[in-house]
Amino acid sequence: MPGASVARDRVSRETPRVAIEMREVAGGYGGTDVVSGVTLGIPAGEFAGLVGPSGAGKTSILKAMLGELPQVAGRVTVGGEAVVPGRPPAGVGYVPQVETVDWSFPVTVEDVVMMGRVRRMGLLPWPGREDRRVVGETLERLGLGALRRRHIRELSGGQQQRVFLARALIGEPRILILDEPTASVDVKTRDDILHLLADLHRQGVTIVMTTHELNAVAAHLPWVACINGGVVAQGAPLQVFTSAILSRTFGAEMRVVRDPETGGLLIAETGRHGPFADPRAHHAHLHEEGIPHVHAGAPAREPSLTSVAD
Ligand SMILES: Nc1ncnc2c1ncn2[C@@H]1O[C@H](COP(=O)(O)OP(=O)(O)OP(=O)(O)O)[C@@H](O)[C@H]1O
Ligand SMILES: [Mg+2]
Repeated sequence: MPGASVARDRVSRETPRVAIEMREVAGGYGGTDVVSGVTLGIPAGEFAGLVGPSGAGKTSILKAMLGELPQVAGRVTVGGEAVVPGRPPAGVGYVPQVETVDWSFPVTVEDVVMMGRVRRMGLLPWPGREDRRVVGETLERLGLGALRRRHIRELSGGQQQRVFLARALIGEPRILILDEPTASVDVKTRDDILHLLADLHRQGVTIVMTTHELNAVAAHLPWVACINGGVVAQGAPLQVFTSAILSRTFGAEMRVVRDPETGGLLIAETGRHGPFADPRAHHAHLHEEGIPHVHAGAPAREPSLTSVAD
């Protein structure tokens, strides 16, 4: 994989400081490894994206960085310090994947965000006026001011995601680890979150995030890694996002087109091997599954149904 090795060399030779390093890491749950041979070096001050199919091990890799993966072998360092299982590394903010959070305990938006401030609260175990001011300011910044007294369960997925972001920001992290921060948010909120992260990146915060959005998010990041049970490739998107590497990562045919005017990347799933690659096979599938559809040339009996060409 020439692109991958070029990218890896670039990282190791030109980067003086590494914010997060994983060397030959294997890990997982209940005696089974879900990732292995993970060697990653995320430069300090980088804005890094991890991409890969569902179940590829992206969240598990983030958990290894946070000391939260139940079983880990190999070496993980964050900010130059070895990560100890069960102890979150200092100076790191974490925004978890919303679907993985258990909301059974009763807490308000303000409570959740205040949790991010605990380390800074001083001797008293309850928040003071300054803590409340900072929390209020951060909630406003993320458009959550009006929701501060709401129970966290009463929020939409995108709003919950922003509450977690607020909780992470309040601790003023040097490294911010986010698990799909733009999943389940609308386009405007996604752009707001990305602008906020870009601002933090400009201020020197190292950012690592997972995303499923290859075109809208990952292709614009300066550094990406393709994950599938291990690291398929890492480095600049122009080197890493090739048809070969992406197809290998996602186990599906992907094509990369370069916009001749902007130089930007456009990643297309060609679906050549998918179940609907052949329109006739697709049509047969609709019949087999009893899915209503309209035959081309025939009068549409159900105008609300999607038209499918024969
Ligand atoms: N708590 C757990 N116990 C057992 N297995 C788990 C646990 N969490 C994840 N796994 C398994 O580990 C593998 C990797 O999961 P992981 O959550 O890291 O994937 P992912 O790349 O983040 O996927 P997604 O894009 O869907 O979030 C999957 O096969 C998953 O079923
Ligand atoms: Mg995940």
